[in-house]
Amino acid sequence: MTELDAETVRDYYRTFARVEATDTSPIYTTWAEGVAADDEVIGRLLDLPRPKRQANLLFAAARHLGAGEGSYADLRTWLLEHWEEARELMLARSTQTNEAGRCATLLPVLARIDGPLALIEVGASAGLCLYPDRYSYRYTIAEAADPSTSARTTGPDPARTIQLDPPDGPSSVLIDCELANASAPRGLPDVAWRAGIDLNPIDVTDACEREWLRSLVWPEHDVRRERLIAAAALVAKDPPRLVRGDLLETIESLLAEVPAGTQPVVFHSAVLAYVDAEARAEFASLMRSREDVVWISNEGAQVLPNIGAQVEAGVSGGHAADGRFVLAVDGKAIALTGPHGQTYEGLTPLN
Ligand SMILES: C[S@@+](CC[C@H](N)C(=O)[O-])C[C@H]1O[C@@H](n2cnc3c(N)ncnc32)[C@H](O)[C@@H]1O
Repeated sequence: MTELDAETVRDYYRTFARVEATDTSPIYTTWAEGVAADDEVIGRLLDLPRPKRQANLLFAAARHLGAGEGSYADLRTWLLEHWEEARELMLARSTQTNEAGRCATLLPVLARIDGPLALIEVGASAGLCLYPDRYSYRYTIAEAADPSTSARTTGPDPARTIQLDPPDGPSSVLIDCELANASAPRGLPDVAWRAGIDLNPIDVTDACEREWLRSLVWPEHDVRRERLIAAAALVAKDPPRLVRGDLLETIESLLAEVPAGTQPVVFHSAVLAYVDAEARAEFASLMRSREDVVWISNEGAQVLPNIGAQVEAGVSGGHAADGRFVLAVDGKAIALTGPHGQTYEGLTPLN
């Protein structure tokens, strides 16, 4: 361990506290600040391979194993007493947070594609985002809604809230999303076929796997945790086909399986940041070369430079991504989205 390595980890935890956790998790903010100032814990993290030093992984593993959600002093005591157990779990697991809420930001695009659809999600985790047709959605419209929509309106100010349900009635999973500069989707997509790819597919029918997904949701995020439990229960009744493999190596063979008469749609959210720049560029180029496929990307603004640059260049009227993902269709940036699907701000009108 060099002092430079230690400073890099300290810096990373400080930045995690300030940028990622501060507005959304007081517990993780305090914990990350605590780790950044704690040479003993930093030293233990340095014994782990680089990708395993993540705050999200450390904190999820500690909570998963019973560290509780108290002060940093409590976490520290627990970590030093249970380091071997925590270390083993961090080596065995990774941050595979599966957020069904992201379907609310994919839906405005999916609902406008002529179906039936064949959905392929790369980096699917447990596949919860492969079921956009099985969830209910409640869109709060920040600007004038499209009056021609057939969706029903609910809530104290009915003109501003639109609920969409599957054809057989409201789902056990209800996803809220604030919509701006866009009209609400007119319905749910007709999904005829679905499959996912992941380096490590999570089996949603396995209670231990579901528990790990639960631990990955940050402490104060109760709505997300409840949604995860409901979505996992719904999907476990009809689990998706998930292929184990690297997205670049597996995508073409899965595309070859898409049934005739369906529109192939390849999508990914919060995935390409885990892949190196060269592989990201290769994947983007492959997707652009497939004119038969609709490619939907929902990633951080820095992840695919050509897409991020469209936002930066003000193609969209000078919007700053401001920590949000960029939603792009076939490489064209069309919206800024809340990373957990909580908001959708249109950058360009959808056809
Ligand atoms: C943060 S999770 C996002 C899961 C899901 N897309 C969502 O939005 O809820 C990222 C997933 O990408 C997977 N992943 C990372 N690199 C991958 C690769 N090269 N090929 C396939 N999957 C990958 C991880 O295993 C993990 O399950």
